[in-house]
Amino acid sequence: MTSDRIGGDLLAWYDIHARNLPWRVGPAARAQGVQPDPYRVWLSEIMLQQTTVAAVRDYFHRFTARWPTVADLAAAEDGDVMGEWAGLGYYARARNLLKCARVVVSEHGGRFPDDPDALLALPGVGPYTAAAIAAIAFDKPETVMDGNVERVMARLFDIHEPLPAAKPVLKAQAAALTPATRPGDHAQAVMDLGATICTPRNPACGICPLRAPCAARAAGTQADLPRKTPKKPKPTRRGIAYLGRRADGAWLLERRPEKGLLGGMLGWPGSDWAESPPEASPPCPGNWRTVPGEVRHTFTHFHLVLELRRADLPEDCTTMRGQFLAPGGFRPSDLPTAMRKAFDLARDG
Ligand code: ADE
Repeated sequence: MTSDRIGGDLLAWYDIHARNLPWRVGPAARAQGVQPDPYRVWLSEIMLQQTTVAAVRDYFHRFTARWPTVADLAAAEDGDVMGEWAGLGYYARARNLLKCARVVVSEHGGRFPDDPDALLALPGVGPYTAAAIAAIAFDKPETVMDGNVERVMARLFDIHEPLPAAKPVLKAQAAALTPATRPGDHAQAVMDLGATICTPRNPACGICPLRAPCAARAAGTQADLPRKTPKKPKPTRRGIAYLGRRADGAWLLERRPEKGLLGGMLGWPGSDWAESPPEASPPCPGNWRTVPGEVRHTFTHFHLVLELRRADLPEDCTTMRGQFLAPGGFRPSDLPTAMRKAFDLARDG
């Protein structure tokens, strides 16, 4: 079957089965000339990196309600944006989001460029995101590769070379399938196929629009693809976090340095996180006591186990580290998940 025919069948399927997503202009509206808003496309693609559609939906609604345009976002306070991002993870994305919004306003007059190379020059925009914005927002024939697309290509062409080594081969196959007409809908169609039919486990080959040309289905190998080179097991790091509350109800928090893990986010003062047990060093004198239990959280490269200490601090407590935030000045939902788990465990202790 020719790549034109495969692409045509996929678009015909997308016309009926496209997912209804809050940042998407669906095929019917698009056929009537409705253009996607590049700001919403960009925001959604940044949020969707390493994150599921289900997790992103509410964040996307909150961001676009609070900052409806890229100029609104560019004018936001850093802490407000980091707070709204809290819980989504990979916080470098939020720091770059703000930088990017400000560059789009200061260097591009508040309009996203439509050229992939100009997009690639924006903070936080890598090859995936540049291709996705160019294709989805501007209907450019770019090849958009993500995990869904890799899986669809590995199966369609029965490619057994394991990831990540297979990436260039999979990309070449995806590029050969990218049509000159409706490339934006095509990119979204491949992603939707991967998310709803050509799923990692139990792919629904019986209702797949590409079941006829699918080489893995013919060979019976679809459930084993894509192959993956095993990852190294994650180490465990340990740390201590100090949750101090003043008599007036204010909690002692600190903003983490811009660089590094959870950079720019609010957190509890604490030890470094290391594979050997850390030294205790409270941020200020107080009746520090150990909270029963521990917090466990998994980051990309390690598991974290946090011991918690809790103290009630005097009204006149002074500290070299962090700042006291009154109950009205901080929302637990502003904390990244590891820190929010610590709050949940220690708040009443
Ligand atoms: N995953 C990442 N970007 C997506 C998009 N634009 N549509 C569907 N799934 C996605």
